[in-house]
Parts: sequence; structure tokens; C-alpha cells
Amino acid sequence: MIVGIPTETFEGERRVALVPAGVASLCKIDCVVQVEAGAGDNAGFTDQMYQDAGATIVADRAVMFQEADAIVAVRAAGGNPDAGTPDMERLREGQLLVGFLEPLSEIESMKDLAKRGVIGCAMELIPRTSRAQSMDALSSQANIGGYKAAVLASETLPRMFPMMMTAAGTITPAHVFVVGVGVAGLQAIATCKRLGAVIQAYDIRPTVKEQVQSVGGQFIEMELETGSAEGSGGYAQAMDEVFYEKQRELMIRVVADNDVVITTAAVPGRKAPILVTEEMIKGMKPGSVVVDLAAERGGNCDITEPGQTVVKHGVTIMGPTNLPSTVPYHSSQMYSNNVVNFLKLMIEDGKLNPDVDDDIVQEATVTKGGEVVNTRILDIINPKEEPS
Ligand code: NAI
Repeated sequence: MIVGIPTETFEGERRVALVPAGVASLCKIDCVVQVEAGAGDNAGFTDQMYQDAGATIVADRAVMFQEADAIVAVRAAGGNPDAGTPDMERLREGQLLVGFLEPLSEIESMKDLAKRGVIGCAMELIPRTSRAQSMDALSSQANIGGYKAAVLASETLPRMFPMMMTAAGTITPAHVFVVGVGVAGLQAIATCKRLGAVIQAYDIRPTVKEQVQSVGGQFIEMELETGSAEGSGGYAQAMDEVFYEKQRELMIRVVADNDVVITTAAVPGRKAPILVTEEMIKGMKPGSVVVDLAAERGGNCDITEPGQTVVKHGVTIMGPTNLPSTVPYHSSQMYSNNVVNFLKLMIEDGKLNPDVDDDIVQEATVTKGGEVVNTRILDIINPKEEPS
């Protein structure tokens, strides 16, 4: 089985889907790995390193798509809708495609993959279960996003994070408020703590309180009815607008008291809830910083512009959309481990032989045999009628 690793073409994307250590792992399960020339350059992995690990370097991308039985990418199909169009044309029947495919929002792209007979597997749909942890690319990349959000905030804030007692006076520590304590939020708290800040955090899933405390943050209690907030797989459920209105009211004071707000509140497959309004921004001290990690899902702050930094009412609001790509060496390394572990469920003795009874394979597979097969996508294509 030939596995092809193309150079990423999404604007600004510096990651690569497989690092040299991953090549060696795939060779062990009797795969032949082809890497497009220069694919790892931006992440710090040279062609020579890939060759030393057992890969063949291919100069012509079109030839690689022709020869490969599987294409493994960071972003493909719906995950790279513009620059990825030529690749969509190159995909063929029976070929396996693994990557971030944006399966729940780029539905037309999923239909296109089905039409072409591609076996599409979306890394976003790997379930968040114990057995799938080593393949959970959303979590591995969110971890990096949380780290980098803390670093960005500390670099942008006109104050230092740690407390310092010096001959020139005592410096008080920066105060950080983290909203949404999933993978990204927890890592943001841990990183801010290491930098010396004082951290408060809130999540609608009360179960995270102990996790916040374990990394050195203080969990803020709010008088909100959150009994139904936790859905399946440890992800949050969407709440109604009345709930969010009450939450915003309760958060006004906390936001005003902190120098940095890092928001990561997300509900899978939904637009991010607005939790920080312009009124709340007006109440922050000049020079304060908001890092809105939910920017690619519309943002948790109503001023956020995805991919931009906006200064309003003296507050800097950052809406980064691809932080993992700014740490490409480690984000590629972690993603590569995730895809290798997933491919081990799909490949046996060098042949494509997915275990169709495996829940991880079932949930990640979006298209097969000319059809969209994933139930979550099918529910979006054919929405069930709400009982009146
Ligand atoms: P996650 O699902 O583990 O965490 C999200 C958390 O938000 C959950 O704990 C959930 O309970 C909480 N939440 C939902 N609604 C809330 C509300 N109203 N108030 C308080 N908390 C609420 O997700 P993960 O993996 O931590 O990712 C978080 C977000 O960061 C996602 O939108 C993800 O796409 C984004 N992200 C962005 C990156 C970037 O470069 N901008 C990089 C990595 C992740």
C-alpha cells in the first residue's frame, strides 16, 4: 500500500501530516511512503530526514496522487476548500483520504468526495474515548492552541505575568480569566500558571472544577443551571439564548477584574456562543487582552474578527485561527502520531483493510462506496423534523 504525504497548500499552513518517525512506523506495517518534495520544510523536517526514515521523495504532486492508495494530509477537502480544489480533481475511486476535512460544515465537499468514490476519513470525527485518545487530533492540536494562546497574551499585554519583588518596587501578577475549560482551556491555564499569572476559570461543565484546581487555577462558581450542559463524549451541549444572557451578566465583573481573557468555549458542530460583549470589553482596563480561540467558529467575543487583531476601547482582541501551525514542529509530530495510530486500524499487512466493526473507524469514515455514510453528516443533509 502506497501512502502519499502532500505539501499542505492551505494559506499559512506550516504543518505536515507525517514526520520522519511516522514514516518508519508505516514502513513497519508494510506501507510504502511517498513524500512530496519539501513537504516537511516549514515544520523543520528535510527531505533527507524522510529518506533516511525510508520514504521516497516525489517531485510531482499529480504523480503522487495517481500512484498513492492513501493520501494523508493535515487539511484536505472541506478543510482546504480553495487551494485544495485541484487535489479534489486528482482523487480517485477507492483511494483513502485522511485529514481534517471539515465534515460537519463543508457538506458539499463531503458529497463531492462520495461522488468520486473516495474513502474519506475525517480526523475531526475521531471520538473522544479512552481507546481513541492516541488518535484524537482535535485534542492534540487544541493542547498546542491553548499553550500558544497563553504565550500570545503574555507577549501582547503591556504588563508582566509573574509577581516580582525588586528594589525598584513590587510588581503584582497579571490576572487571567479562561472561559471554557476543555483541552485548550486547561492548557492555557497551565501555561499562564507557569508564567506566573493568577488564573480564574469557568466552564458550564461543573465536572472540570477539579481539573482547573489541579493546574493551579481558581474555578469561578456561577448561579447557572448547568445540569444538562454535558453531552456525549465529554463535549458540551448547546444552551439556549436565555442561558447565555444570564451567563454574560454574571461574567461582567469577572471580565472587568482581569487583565487577560482567553476564550475557548465551543459546542461541536455549532457556532461558538457569544460570551464577551462589546459592553464587557468597555469595562476592561486599557491595555487588556482578549485571545479568542473560538474565532474559527465565529468567536466567543462579538468584536472578534477571525484571523485578525483588533484594538477597541483600548483592549486588544485577537482572533487567531490556526495557532497549531505557528508551532509546526511539535504540532506535526503530534498529528503524525495521531494519524499513524489511526492508520493501524485501517491497514493490515500492507493492505487497506479497515475494521468496519470498529467504532473509531465507523465514526471517522465520512464517505465510502460512493455515498456519504456518516450519520452525523446525514443528519445535517436530511434534518429530522422537530416534533411540533
Ligand atoms: P473542548 O470541547 O475540549 O472545550 C470547549 C469547552 O468549552 C468545553 O469544556 C465546554 O464545556 C466549554 N463551554 C461550552 N460552552 C460554554 C459556555 N457557554 N461557557 C463556558 N464554557 C463553555 O474544545 P477544545 O478542544 O478545548 O477547543 C476549544 C476551542 O478552541 C475550539 O473552538 C477549537 O476549535 C479552538 N481551537 C482554536 C485554535 C486556534 O488556533 N484558534 C487551536 C486549537 C483549538
